[in-house]
Amino acid sequence: MPSSRGIARFRAATSLGAAVVVLAVAASAFSLRVFAQHERNSGSQEAVARQWWQDAVFYEIYPRSFADSNNDGVGDLKGITSKLDYLRALGVDAIWITPCFPSPQVDFGYDVADYENIDPMYGTLADFDRLVAEARKRHIRVILDFVINHTSDKHPWFLDSESSRISAHRDWYIWRDGKPSEGPGALGAPPNNWRAIFGGSAWQFDPKTGQFYYHAFYPQQPDLNWRNPAVEKAMFDQARFWFERGVAGFRLDAVDTLFEDPALRDNPVLPGKNSFGEPKMESKYTSKLPEVHDVLRDLRKVADEYGAVLIGETWTNNIDELKEYYGQHSNELQMPMDLMFTSVKTLSAPEFRRQIAAVDAGGGWPVFVISNHDIDRSYNRYGDGQHNDQIAKLMAAMYLTLRGSPILYYGEEIGMENNDPKTKDEVKDPIGKVAWPAYRGRDGERTPMQWTPGPNGGFSTVTPWLPVPSSAQSHNVASESSDPESILNFYKHLLSLRHKEKALLYGDYLALNPDDPNVLSYLRRYRDETILVVLNFSSSPQTVTFDLSSQGLASAKGKTLLTSDPAKPAGSSLRSLSLAPYSAYIIRVSR
Ligand code: GLC
Repeated sequence: MPSSRGIARFRAATSLGAAVVVLAVAASAFSLRVFAQHERNSGSQEAVARQWWQDAVFYEIYPRSFADSNNDGVGDLKGITSKLDYLRALGVDAIWITPCFPSPQVDFGYDVADYENIDPMYGTLADFDRLVAEARKRHIRVILDFVINHTSDKHPWFLDSESSRISAHRDWYIWRDGKPSEGPGALGAPPNNWRAIFGGSAWQFDPKTGQFYYHAFYPQQPDLNWRNPAVEKAMFDQARFWFERGVAGFRLDAVDTLFEDPALRDNPVLPGKNSFGEPKMESKYTSKLPEVHDVLRDLRKVADEYGAVLIGETWTNNIDELKEYYGQHSNELQMPMDLMFTSVKTLSAPEFRRQIAAVDAGGGWPVFVISNHDIDRSYNRYGDGQHNDQIAKLMAAMYLTLRGSPILYYGEEIGMENNDPKTKDEVKDPIGKVAWPAYRGRDGERTPMQWTPGPNGGFSTVTPWLPVPSSAQSHNVASESSDPESILNFYKHLLSLRHKEKALLYGDYLALNPDDPNVLSYLRRYRDETILVVLNFSSSPQTVTFDLSSQGLASAKGKTLLTSDPAKPAGSSLRSLSLAPYSAYIIRVSR
């Protein structure tokens, strides 16, 4: 069984301890602007403009691993285009492609060397344009990943910056003198105690110019200096480049770390060591500085010109921090991800109930995620080794019926599991090498999409860049498509309901039976339509009773719309509902 370690925990462990997670075409042609007016019912009945991204199901694609059209072992854009029909049939409205720009690939694309092109390993700009056009035909929008905290050290801006102290781009990055250190020939010590999220000092010495530059992540990812207006202008121009090409929005990478304390004060040191064996540290002076919000407000203005959406990689510790990312006047990120949701470690009804209630009451539009390319797959995190498929359906039934926009991670819909490296030699993700064996890196959750039961999961005819687990023989698109009880077909039904049922799209969220330790139940209500979701998070059968008299539904009847209960009960008595272990029930309630 792969470990349940993930970068969220890894980040917590490396920098702060458990309490604090550090991290961290013309648009109009595609009707990117508001295109539906509905009454949103989130407690009140006021009519507000409904935005496209509120009704959309998002799907994250890690391009190296999704579909390999030229059989070189690495996925590509043509591969993604060839799978658009699959995505449409699944019920996906928008794909977020993690960085596919030219890059030395030290951090597998999160080290961008050119923001206005496509890495040849993935194809060309023409391939990208075709992808957008084909996606549009299928009503799928394309979201790109915008890496704004840092560039690659091979980006021409950085090459110029490091060339001399008086170069035009010197102040585009964060260069500082070291602290004098003693001894003949000493080069000086780093300017302060800041540690990189990926291990080691956050300062890299450059012998040529005799100064240190700051990097929140790898040394090959120097941080941009967002205090320099020229940086902001250049980065906003890159955003426009993609908006003009028909991109419907960005997922903003590592927004927490855009600014650092100009006085370079040391971060407070905490007791204990992180996975790198280094002292744990708070990120007081390197994360979530107030200036971040100035940039987000400005970038939002650019996005608004194109009706585009900004999704944030927002690693927050509490709901107040998350709320800040929406902006005081809803003028920052429309979709900051609630990554706290991924920190729920066990299948716990009370814990999920608490998290959902917090974000639902937060005032912003919730964004639910259970897996991504930085954390262990939910299949492993919540699976008990025996009922993993059943639990995968349960998790889906939960986060795909909540009020908010979900972001699926490729392969989640077929129950893909982590395939972690077995030895240090196998590791591709640099942090997995540095922190081995305490942490094996992120390769496990980035393995190729499993399309068929054939060799390499049908991803590629040659050995792919990461190995496919043997579970691909049962968990793959082809086999699951023809099995009515598969995880894939459960996702399809669920997403179809989500698109059809107004209560699921626009309804409010009302928790029921709030003290039940095993069963999470809630209503979604829109006008006179009500859907009841009942989720048995336990390994034993349960019986639940609902008293809906205070909702005016005293003698309501239930009709099961979808269930993962193998016995498939047809009707549902709301007075006494018997639940199979780890089963989900989505029930239409009528008077
Ligand atoms: C984000 C990405 C992660 C990357 C890091 C540095 O956290 O999700 O994959 O390594 O930023 O760019």
